[in-house]
Order: sequence, then structure tokens, then C-alpha cells
Amino acid sequence: MEIEFDFDTSITIVDELTMTDFEQIRIVDNFYQTSSFFPMPVVLISTLAETGQTNLGPYSLCFPHIVAGQDKFSMMLICRETSNTAMNIKRTGICAINFIPDKKKYMENCVVLGFPGETTEEKMANSIFTLQPSIRSDSGSDITYPEIVKESVQIFECTWDQSYPSQLNPGGDNFVLKIDSIHLNKKYKDAILRGMDDKTFPNLPIDYGFRDNLHFWFAEVKKPYKVRIPENKGTNIDSIRYATKRFDPSVEWTDEASEKIVNVPRIFLNKVIGTVVKSAKEEGVTVITGEFLDKVRDKRSKEKND
Ligand SMILES: Cc1cc2nc3c(=O)[nH]c(=O)nc-3n(C[C@H](O)[C@H](O)[C@H](O)COP(=O)(O)O)c2cc1C
Repeated sequence: MEIEFDFDTSITIVDELTMTDFEQIRIVDNFYQTSSFFPMPVVLISTLAETGQTNLGPYSLCFPHIVAGQDKFSMMLICRETSNTAMNIKRTGICAINFIPDKKKYMENCVVLGFPGETTEEKMANSIFTLQPSIRSDSGSDITYPEIVKESVQIFECTWDQSYPSQLNPGGDNFVLKIDSIHLNKKYKDAILRGMDDKTFPNLPIDYGFRDNLHFWFAEVKKPYKVRIPENKGTNIDSIRYATKRFDPSVEWTDEASEKIVNVPRIFLNKVIGTVVKSAKEEGVTVITGEFLDKVRDKRSKEKND
């Protein structure tokens, strides 16, 4: 079967492929967009220009890098070495990763802001995004932080981790960006803590890269859907450990305490964890033991029966 790279119909063609229909393609520079289809995020990275003005650069090669080990959570950014973003990160060591929602006018503006070679002043004159002071500015520190994008669904405020020196490769600088804080729009934070439903998924853009020498291609998320974990892989102590850590890493749960909530149905898990953590905080408890959990349970059932 002949494979034509007609982007409008490519999805139908792929559906028809059988195992024998694969054909090798030459791997060339920027293979993720020139030799394959690779879904990527679109973020606006804010950095501080030498003039003190905030610079917004659109980036897609920005992925989770270190995902466990609390003091090290980080993102990897691959970035043209002569870009404003790369130069600003090297000079100031700080940036914010703004996850903007998927709207065609935002993507059009990203393509405008993604045009290489302009100074911050020149390009920001064409930005349609609203800038507001960094949330870190409230910390009382005398560092000037780049502004953040008000339209964002979420923002990662980051510091360049220079213990992983930027390794310049032919594709650009690689920056390991330590995540100092994550700020979510309240609606989405509530959804994460409460348990997701398909109505509260943020609509984030998917970038399929710079293709056909003329266009960037983006795709919409049509509708989120869920796939159930098989029953026998349901809640176990590992998933409880994961859930408690994610809920509030500053409160530790002993295995004994975690075992005691293994049978809580998944949809109530966060609510139960939240109740126990709230009581722990009220009482200044930092390690939740089986005994403490029993105490909270007894208190709750007593309250219900009163
Ligand atoms: C949607 C989109 C994604 C992009 N992703 C990247 C990327 O991951 N890495 C990169 O070096 N350039 C990327 N670019 C190109 C940069 O945006 C471009 O180099 C721009 O000049 C950077 O802005 P700055 O100089 O203000 O940092 C992307 C452009 C667009 C429109």
C-alpha cells in the first residue's frame, strides 16, 4: 500500500495499516517532526530579558525529566542556544513554564512569538497574552521573577539546575529546570484533589510540529475518556502510598495506616485521605500511624451518630 503524507487524511490511512504496511523513512534533523508524528505540549516560557521586560517564547520540547525525589522534580527543555529564552535562563537562572489552553488564536500568536531573531521588545509588542506578577514575587525575596501568563491553566515556576550543566547538542541547549512550585487554576486543582471527571479536564494544545515547510500543525483534544484498571490491579498498598504522597508530601503515612484504607473505593480515597490529613494538621501530627487513623475514624463515626 502506498503511504501518502496527506495530513488531512493521514489518520484514516493509518487506521487501514496492517503490520506489513510499515515502511522505513530516512531519519533527518528534527526527526520528531520531519520523519515521524510526535505529539507534544505547547508552553510559553517566561524569562527576564536584560532590560527587565518579560519575554515569552513558545516551546514544545519541554517534558518531565526527574519525576520522583522531592527536592529534584524537574523538566527538560530543549531550546535553540541563541534564543532569548536560552540566553535569559543562562543569565538569570529562572523561568516560568506557562501551560496555555488550546485556542486557535493562542496558537496563532505562539507562531508569531516563535519567529526567531526578534528582540523581546519587538516580539512582545505582538503578544496577545496578559502578564501578571509571578506568584513567587510574594515570597519577600529580592529576586525579580519573570511575569506569568494569566490565561494559563497551570504554571510551573522553575530554577535552572546547574548541577546538570546545559549540554549543548546540535539541536539546542538542554536545560534541566527544577520545579520550585506548581500553580493550578483553582477549578483544576479541585478536580485533581477531588478525583477527575471528564468535564474538568483542561483543554491543552497538542503540537504535531513544524511540518511541510509552511505550517505548524496542532490538534485538539476531542474528549477525554477513561480506561478502568483491571480489578486485580486495583487499590493496593503501593497505590495508597502514591495517593497519600501526592495528596500532601509533608505528611507521612506508615504502612500500617496505608493498609487500613486499602479497601476504600477509589472514588472516595482522596476524600478519606483529605479528612485524615486535615485532622493530622489540626493536631500537629506529621506521621499518620494506624492508631491515629483509628482515632480519626472513631471521632468521625461518633460525630455522625451524635
Ligand atoms: C509551537 C511552537 C513550538 C516550538 N518549540 C520549540 C522547541 O521546543 N525548542 C526550540 O528551540 N524552539 C521551539 N520553537 C521555536 C521558538 O519558539 C523560536 O526559536 C523562538 O524564537 C523562541 O523565542 P525566544 O527567542 O523569545 O526564546 C517553537 C515554536 C513554536 C511556534
